Amino acid sequence: MCGIFGIVTNKQQPLGSILTDAARRLTYRGYDSVGAATISDDGTIDLRKDVGRVDDVAAKYNFAEMSGRRGITQLRWATFGEPSQINAQPHLDSDGDMVGAHNGNVVNNVELRQQFIAEGMTVRSQNDGETCVHAVERYVNKGYDIIDAIRLAYGDLAGDYAFVIGRVNDDRLYAFKKGSGLVVGIGELPAAGNPGGSTFTCVSSDLPSILPLTRKIVRIQDGEIVTLWPDHVEVRSVKDGKCINREPEIVTETMDAVQKGGYPHFMLKEIHEQPQVAREVLHLLEGSRDVETMLNKMKSARHLYFIGCGTSYHACLAGAVFFAQLAGRAVIPVLAPQFVPQYAPAVSHEDVGLFVSQSGETKDVLNALQIAEQRGMTCFGLANVIGSTLTKSTACWLPLCCGYEISVPATKTFTNQIVTFLYLAYRMAGRDTRELEKIPELMGQTLEETAPQIAAIAGEINRWNDLYCLGYGANYAIALEGALKLKEITYAHCEGMLSTEFKHGPLSAVSKGYPVIFVAPPEDVPLIVSGINEVTCRGGRAIAIGEADSSLSANASDMIVIPKSNPAINPLLAVLPLQLLSYHMSVARGYDPDFPRNLSKTLTVD
Ligand code: M6R
Repeated sequence: MCGIFGIVTNKQQPLGSILTDAARRLTYRGYDSVGAATISDDGTIDLRKDVGRVDDVAAKYNFAEMSGRRGITQLRWATFGEPSQINAQPHLDSDGDMVGAHNGNVVNNVELRQQFIAEGMTVRSQNDGETCVHAVERYVNKGYDIIDAIRLAYGDLAGDYAFVIGRVNDDRLYAFKKGSGLVVGIGELPAAGNPGGSTFTCVSSDLPSILPLTRKIVRIQDGEIVTLWPDHVEVRSVKDGKCINREPEIVTETMDAVQKGGYPHFMLKEIHEQPQVAREVLHLLEGSRDVETMLNKMKSARHLYFIGCGTSYHACLAGAVFFAQLAGRAVIPVLAPQFVPQYAPAVSHEDVGLFVSQSGETKDVLNALQIAEQRGMTCFGLANVIGSTLTKSTACWLPLCCGYEISVPATKTFTNQIVTFLYLAYRMAGRDTRELEKIPELMGQTLEETAPQIAAIAGEINRWNDLYCLGYGANYAIALEGALKLKEITYAHCEGMLSTEFKHGPLSAVSKGYPVIFVAPPEDVPLIVSGINEVTCRGGRAIAIGEADSSLSANASDMIVIPKSNPAINPLLAVLPLQLLSYHMSVARGYDPDFPRNLSKTLTVD
């Protein structure tokens, strides 16, 4: 997830350190490249950028000496185009008199770049931030004034993004957004080192990059364009170009609270980001040519493997069920280290493997990848961190589009892995993927409706240090994932299991009040009701997660109702209450769910 910051001041001055400080405050989102541009009174643009850490790039390119009246900085988290200097942002237009940067994803990037090239514009990178610049340039070249050019560009750019742009011989910056966050600040720069002080306005994807400068802010909504002058801003509607009256507000939260988006922990914030990132990955998949490449190879593969570890492996398990149920295609889901002895000796160029990893750096996954490649297997990747070893080592890969996941327990990256598998299975089956567009709203509804009940149940079962989480079919993967979350951050033992296996041994653990969670999609209810009764008749507490169902409610001790959905979407909703349950139990135990003991976010060791 990239971050942007732009500033407009009332006089030419050193802006390098202001831009560098703002960039530092965006680093919590995760990034691979940094850039800064200043626009001076003499009509020049000074642009410096590269791959690397903020402090390293700022030192190498001496950001400190950059001055101007307006400035833009951007941290890039690669999606379109590998991390490289040319793909780093900001970007210039064809003749170098406009400069802009974006965050988010423009999903019709490839098509638009081809149009711009055909129209004679100079396209230097593969990056969609540059596409935003040319989208405005296209209409400026046709003689539209800047606001109308932006309004037309807005209509051409599909996806979720926020964008800031400036040009020489114009004392303003302009910004607009669709889907991503955008906030404006208004204030005065301190007089120290700046004789007389100066007024400024600024704009950013993230409030934390603004807060040390000012607490007077204006929030920009989708479909709005903001024009920034040194002492005031003007908000207009993209639709009709008319001004919108928006009074500034004063923010009082601390920096820490703001970085966590007002949530007490990153995990809770990331749980609530799931509907939005699901929307973003669906947009991206719709516009991706790599999907085509992968599906063609997968269709003709002799054997198809989904390979990962931990949470990513659970997504592989669910993915294999989707492929079988929706597309009639058998897939072998396998834990990466076990791929090596069990399958690697038998694979060849006729087989295809999809290697799945949030970090793209998990050593167990990379070991399996290396051996698979040596055997000539076609290897694809699914990763959140673009530029990671996995994305550099696979023939073709898809991004998870989640931005930086800070909390050690994976949440939003898991659900976007599931969304991606669902999308691929739908495409493999030739089904209409528009049905999947309901996912973000259903996820939001699930979180909202289940949260109070989950918090209450968490308090009631928290004295137990041993519990089970059971499921069947794609929801077997969800049961495993729920159990992993509970283990990871509550330090209790929680076993995930195929629901039908429980009676083959673990049932003996059940005593009065013993919690057993059942993930119960509609088609499994008859099967699961038997399992529930095996638990309740021995005094155990059977907690069912499923769509409203009289039989489930009548038999289970607790019924957590999730929204009615297409059966393929159900597992994606069922995992959300389990994430919330583990979070609340962890916090109630006095642990920090973001940083559980003994664990690391990225496991680069054997
Ligand atoms: O980065 P990866 O997806 O390859 O990581 C694999 C596992 O280490 C990871 O999913 C781990 O299980 C999670 N922290 C669980 O929440």
